[in-house]
Amino acid sequence: MKIAIMGAMREEIAPLLEKLDNVKEIKYASNRYYEASYNGIDVVVAYSKIGKVFASLTATILIEKFGCDRLLFSGVAGAINEDLSIGDLIVANKLCQHDLDITAFGHPHGYVPEGAEFIHCDESLVALSKDVAKSLGIHLYEGIIATGDQFVSDHAKKAWISDTFCADALEMEGSSVAVVCDALDVPFFILRAISDSADDSADVDFDTFLEKSAKVSANFILKMVEKLT
Ligand code: ADE
Repeated sequence: MKIAIMGAMREEIAPLLEKLDNVKEIKYASNRYYEASYNGIDVVVAYSKIGKVFASLTATILIEKFGCDRLLFSGVAGAINEDLSIGDLIVANKLCQHDLDITAFGHPHGYVPEGAEFIHCDESLVALSKDVAKSLGIHLYEGIIATGDQFVSDHAKKAWISDTFCADALEMEGSSVAVVCDALDVPFFILRAISDSADDSADVDFDTFLEKSAKVSANFILKMVEKLT
């Protein structure tokens, strides 16, 4: 087993790198990949940079070049569901691309022919995350995560994403990672800790809570890896 652990920003993987053993940096395709071990298991860690294109590239490289056979994503998200507060953890059961739009041809938002409006995460990894949350006494939300190449800090946009996709949280990479893993048949898991509420204070909240929430997510991911060994 070789596990890819991916984030979008340096802050999202920094708390992971601190805790790994035998870290070896490899430069490839304008990025850095970190081969390491954790609890005796091989892992490869990388941050993609923000957005769907960079995330797709990094997920593909983790699988095709480094041979990872599972992918765990760790990072932060904006909350849509009002039950979610800053620092809360949400695991995606399915993901969609809120900015994918060929509705001019009669298709639903988020859908292109031969694609799917929603991509489902691996059920056994989601089940494992619930066991881990229970053993740690943490409340883990499960729901729909919407992805788009946009930092959302606007009530109307947030409401539209909520109404259109019934999404609970939003971010900028998860769904593209899901597309790659689904196509390459690699079980994947997308975890996010809330950094903001995608409203008009989202930019300030994001800067304030990025590091703290990223750490919450990273620590949980490492607990998952412990259970996978
Ligand atoms: N990731 C964290 N907060 C976000 C937001 N408000 N919009 C998009 N991605 C995010």
